[in-house]
Amino acid sequence: MISKETIDKIIDTADIVDVIGDFVSLKRRGANYIACCPFHNEKTPSFSVSQSKGIFKCFGCGKAGNAVNFVMEHEHLGYVEALKYLGRKYGIEVQDRQESQEEAQDRLRHESLLAVTSYAADFFKRALLETSQGKSIGLSYLKERGFDLDIIDKFSLGWAPAGRDEFTRAALKAGYKKEFLVETGLSIERDNGELVDRFYDRVIFPIHAISGRVIAFGARTLRDDKKIAKYLNSPESEIYTKGKTLYGIYYAKAQMAKDQMCYLVEGYTDVLSLQKAGVSNVVASSGTALTVDQIRLIKRFCSDIVVLYDGDSAGINASLRGIDMILEEGLKVKVVLFPNGEDPDSYAKKYSKEELSSFLINNQEDFISFKSRLLLKESNKDPMQRVRLISEVLNSVAVIPDAISRQVYVEECSKRFGMKEDLLLDEIQKIRSKKKFVETGYSTNFVSSKIETGEKIPKFISDTYCESAERELLYYLIKFGESPLFLSEDGVVSGVTVSQFILTELQNDDLEFQNLVYQKIFDEYYKIKDNGAEYIQKYFVNHRDIEIVKIISDILYNRYTLTIKQFIDATLPEESSLSVTVPKSILIFKARVTAIASQKLNDQLIDAEKEGDEQLQLQLLSQLQLLMQIRNSFSKELNRLTI
Ligand code: CTP
Ligand code: MN
Repeated sequence: MISKETIDKIIDTADIVDVIGDFVSLKRRGANYIACCPFHNEKTPSFSVSQSKGIFKCFGCGKAGNAVNFVMEHEHLGYVEALKYLGRKYGIEVQDRQESQEEAQDRLRHESLLAVTSYAADFFKRALLETSQGKSIGLSYLKERGFDLDIIDKFSLGWAPAGRDEFTRAALKAGYKKEFLVETGLSIERDNGELVDRFYDRVIFPIHAISGRVIAFGARTLRDDKKIAKYLNSPESEIYTKGKTLYGIYYAKAQMAKDQMCYLVEGYTDVLSLQKAGVSNVVASSGTALTVDQIRLIKRFCSDIVVLYDGDSAGINASLRGIDMILEEGLKVKVVLFPNGEDPDSYAKKYSKEELSSFLINNQEDFISFKSRLLLKESNKDPMQRVRLISEVLNSVAVIPDAISRQVYVEECSKRFGMKEDLLLDEIQKIRSKKKFVETGYSTNFVSSKIETGEKIPKFISDTYCESAERELLYYLIKFGESPLFLSEDGVVSGVTVSQFILTELQNDDLEFQNLVYQKIFDEYYKIKDNGAEYIQKYFVNHRDIEIVKIISDILYNRYTLTIKQFIDATLPEESSLSVTVPKSILIFKARVTAIASQKLNDQLIDAEKEGDEQLQLQLLSQLQLLMQIRNSFSKELNRLTI
């Protein structure tokens, strides 16, 4: 939405030390500035800011990026919002690019809708606190439930009067347009064109967006009539999407970020009761099954979710699905099951603050134990049932995107079920390949094709992954890509550059980076490389993709311990030894690729032997021999270069 020119202007103007200095007190240390990291707790500073490069990096928690990324991370803003923040700071007018007439209308409409909901929240609040009906029915009900004026005020609880059109009449009189009253769902248009209130004779729970603005309402009847719904909610509208909203998020987000954890409950009253008991990192999915968007909303603030279920919750199965969805989004999840008949709201009322918080802490269960326990109830000792249970649990582990976390849970499962880790890992791998999960950053499918002869790396090994070697090549590309591979005496760039050399070498062997982010950097590099070294680094440092910025920051901070370092004279300036280090890095990369491939072939060979598949054995054996030859030639070459 913001024009490219404005973005460039902001990025050029924003001085990273000045930007971060508004939030963190920075101390000069050599060429850089340091501080205690604002993103994790620490006593000695490991947070570093490089003014000249325009990047920050925490060597403790690993957070890194440019000035825009810092503002996004620190203030929990989106990219555009962060740019606007910086625009304000530096007095750069951030025009949302020549808004078209249509866009301008949309924005006005949006504002008008929010004006209506905000007016309504205020109307309901006054009705609760200032009218005799509100006080005698609504307020006394809320107080009886234990909600004090602080909580009522903080969450702007309200009362919708019992008449059928009191709100609508007041809103129209105050000048709000019918169109917006209907679109927000606050008023309903009858066939005869008459407007009536959607909410009447109910207690009102306004729903706040992450920005704190009211976008919708939940309304609870106080009647015991089974024929009327306990809750009525605003319909979806241009400003309210149910599945993207969490009740309480505005009041929870700061604590969520601080604790890196939040409690997830079912209803409005659970949120209020926990807040009242001093637990402020709590949000509710409000009656809907948890959605991926809601999980992502949580993920903007914290990494762990503790799901609170009431003991007799009918939706146990839905809740199990919720757990898998959370895991799949890469968040950690624990579960607290309340004793029969209790929910977070009732529990918070029955016990003291201290009892509640120790209950919440002492009863957290990881999902493996929770799932096993639930399913165990059904399965008893029946072996078939046991198999089903184990595979259910493994299904959950399999959706976790991060391999290391999966490994941790496999160890846990292995202990719990008394089964070998290898076996469980195999099973998980099977589930993953069936579901076509893609490992973060690189693909896992094994491409097997015809073997080529000669010393070219054969096609069938193209799935191997050697992160450190890939990174090392990227290091030379980003830092020295446009330098000459061979330093000529007059210092003029002649002959092949580092980037040309790397490209040719990889293309010769049809090799690509398996890490998709590295590959993306690689591809983009060759698109922009003609602009020169300085432009290239700036381009990547200010890239829109934070993953890329992180990798580039690490490279520019010299964070990678290069494998190659053990082969070279560390006292020489890096520029002068590129003719040795770059070809060597290429060789190391290729040697790795083939080594991993041989290992895999070996494993397959063992399997084939076990299964007695002779034809496959022969085929694998010949592939293996070919690889050995190639590996030998690589190590000879590497030795030659080393001497
Ligand atoms: N809910 C809803 N519509 C309903 C029933 C429930 O939207 N007809 C949502 C509400 O967000 C509610 C949540 O589901 O808060 C949980 O439902 P429930 O446990 O029945 O409500 P509580 O909030 O616990 O209400 P109370 O304690 O007052 O009965
Ligand atoms: Mn309840």
